[in-house]
Amino acid sequence: MCGIVGYAGARPALGVVINGLRRLEYRGYDSAGIAVVDGGLLMEKRAGKLASLEKALAERLAEASANPRPAAGNIASGSTGIGHTRWATHGGPTDRNAHPHRSADGRIAVIHNGIIENFAKLRSDLEGRGVTFLSDTDTECVAHLISAELANVDVESPESPVGARLGEAMRRVCLRLEGAFTLLAVDADAPGVVVGARRNSPLVVGRGRDENFLASDVSAFIEYTREATELGQDQVVTITDDGVTIMDFLGNPADGKEFHIDWDSNAAEKGGYDYFMLKEIAEQPRAIADTLLGRLTETGEVMLDEVRLSDQDLRDVDKIFVVACGTAYHSGLVAKYAIEHWTRIPCEVELASEFRYRDPVLDRSTLVVAISQSGETMDTLMALRHAKEQKARVLAICNTSGSTIPRESDAVLYTRGGPEIAVASTKAFLTQLVACYLVGLHLAQVRGIKYADEVGAVVAQLQEMSGKVDQVLDLMEPVRRLARELADAKSVLFIGRHVGYPVALEGALKLKELAYMHAEGFAAGELKHGPIALIDQGTPVVCVVPSPRGRGVLRDKIISNIQEVRARGARTVVIAEDGDEDVRSYADHLIAVPVTPTLLAPLVTTVPLQVLAAEIATARGHDVDQPRNLAKSVTVE
Ligand code: F6R
Repeated sequence: MCGIVGYAGARPALGVVINGLRRLEYRGYDSAGIAVVDGGLLMEKRAGKLASLEKALAERLAEASANPRPAAGNIASGSTGIGHTRWATHGGPTDRNAHPHRSADGRIAVIHNGIIENFAKLRSDLEGRGVTFLSDTDTECVAHLISAELANVDVESPESPVGARLGEAMRRVCLRLEGAFTLLAVDADAPGVVVGARRNSPLVVGRGRDENFLASDVSAFIEYTREATELGQDQVVTITDDGVTIMDFLGNPADGKEFHIDWDSNAAEKGGYDYFMLKEIAEQPRAIADTLLGRLTETGEVMLDEVRLSDQDLRDVDKIFVVACGTAYHSGLVAKYAIEHWTRIPCEVELASEFRYRDPVLDRSTLVVAISQSGETMDTLMALRHAKEQKARVLAICNTSGSTIPRESDAVLYTRGGPEIAVASTKAFLTQLVACYLVGLHLAQVRGIKYADEVGAVVAQLQEMSGKVDQVLDLMEPVRRLARELADAKSVLFIGRHVGYPVALEGALKLKELAYMHAEGFAAGELKHGPIALIDQGTPVVCVVPSPRGRGVLRDKIISNIQEVRARGARTVVIAEDGDEDVRSYADHLIAVPVTPTLLAPLVTTVPLQVLAAEIATARGHDVDQPRNLAKSVTVE
C-alpha cells in the first residue's frame, strides 16, 4: 500500500521519480505527490491518480518557462527527490492530505507508507508546542518531529555531514513512532541526500552507478539498475549519488542483503495490451513454465529456493496450516487438496487476518505455509510472526525477492511470475498453485511417501499445464462475447466442488473487485442450504465441472446441482473438460478446457473466469488495472 520512490544522483529527479511512481501506482492511486530539492524544497501534490499530478506538473513547468525567474530553484532539474502514490488511511484523498508533507519551517519533506499508531499523541504534543498542522494525516507529525530533532543532532561525517544529521534525526524520530512505517525524507539544506527508514513496511535500495534509489519495490527502478539491497527490520538508510549507509534504530552500523533483480524491465510495461491485467493473463503459460524451471535435481528431488530447515524438521511435521489473504488464500484452498492427498498430513487453510486471533494450536512440528505475491501483506506477515513465536516452522511461497515474508521464513519457494502490476491477481494465482503443488510433492518425497519417479510424473503433468493454459487463452473469444451479454446482470453466482470450489471463490472475487457486481462463490452442495434462494429468472450461475475421468461421484453431484439451479430459472455457464458431451445439455453457455488431472484442473478452469471478469469490467466502463478502493499490496492490518 502506498508507493514510495526516492532518488539521489545526477539525473533530474522529477523524471526518475515520476517513472517510478507510474510503476508503483498499483499500490495506491487516490493521490500522488513529489518533492525535489533544488535551491530549496519544491513540491507538487494532487488528489486523484498520478495523471492529475502529471497535469499539474506540466502546467507548472509551462508557467515557469513562460515566466522564468532565474533565482528560484527548478523542480524539473533538481537531482534529489522523493515521490509518493497514496492509498488513504488517515485523512481523505485530498490535495492537502496527499504526500509529501512538509515541516512547519518548510525545510523537511516526508512521505510515508503504513500507519503511525501513536500519531494522535504526537500530534497533540506538537500542537501544544505551537505547531500548526496542514493535513489530517498521521505522516505530517514526522516532518515536524524530524525538523525539531535536527536542532539537537550533532554528527560529524567527512562525506556528508548534513546527510548524516538527517539520518540521525530520522533514527531518533523512529524510536518515538509506533506502528508500521516506511518513511523517506529530504532536507532543503541537504541537496543530494535522501534518508529512509522502515519498520514492518517495505523499502528496498537500488544501487546504480553514481546514483542510488529507494522504493517500495524494485519495479520502481529496474529500468535504471538491477542491483538491489534488501533492508532489514528497524533500519535507517541514507543514500547519496555515491553512497548507501545503513544503521539500525539503535545507531549501530548495519548491512542489508544484496541481491540481483532478474525481472525483465519490459515486464513492467503493458507491451501492447490495453491493460496490465490482460497482459498478465496472457503471460500465465510463461509464468507457469518459469516457476517449474529447474525444480527437479538430477536425482529427481524437488528443490525449494532457500531452506533453513532440515529434512528431519520436515519429516517431523504433523500438521500444516496455510495462511494467506484474498486470491492467495484461494490458492491455499487448492493446496489443501493436493497436500493432504500426497502427504497424508492434515492441512488447514486459514485467512491470515483471522489466524492469530483465535489462538491456533501450534508447535515445532507444525508447518505454516504463508502464501503472498507481494511478500508484504501485513495480515500474512503477522500470522507468520505469530506462528514463529509459537515455534512453528514457516515456509513462504512468494513472488517478490527482497520482501519481508520470505526474509522472515524458514524456507522459501519463489513463484517466478515477474512483476504483477494489475491490482487483481492473475498470474500470481496460477504460479502460487504451481508452487503449492511443488511444496506438496517435496513434503511427500522427504517423508518417503512418494518416490522420485512418482514426483517426476506429476512434475511432467505440471509441465504440460503451460501449453494447456495457452490452449485456453486461444479460445477466449466466446467468453468475451458472453461477458458483454452478462455486463448488466445484477448478480453472478459461481459454484464448484472439490478443487472447483476455490476456483468458484476466485471467479467471484475477480468479478467483485473488477466489475463491482454482486458475485458469490459457493461449494455447489451448499447451495440448497440457503443460497439457492438468490436464484431468479436469468441469474447467471457459473458452474465449474470436474473431469468425467476423475471422481465420477463428484461430477454426478455437481450435475444435479446444475439441474437444481436451472429448474429455478438460472442461466448456466458451464466450464467443463473438452469432450465432456454429457454436460452440454445442462449448459446455456459451455466453456471447454483441456483434459487435465483433477488436482491440477484449477490451472485451466480459473483462466476463463479471469477473462470473464476483465471483460465484464471493461464493458461496464471500469478501470481494469486499478479498481476503486483497492491497493495491490496491503501493508496495513
Ligand atoms: C485479488 C488480490 C488480493 C491479493 C491479497 C493478497 O485479486 O490481488 O486478494 O491476493 O491482497 O496479496 P498478496 O498475495 O500480495 O499477499
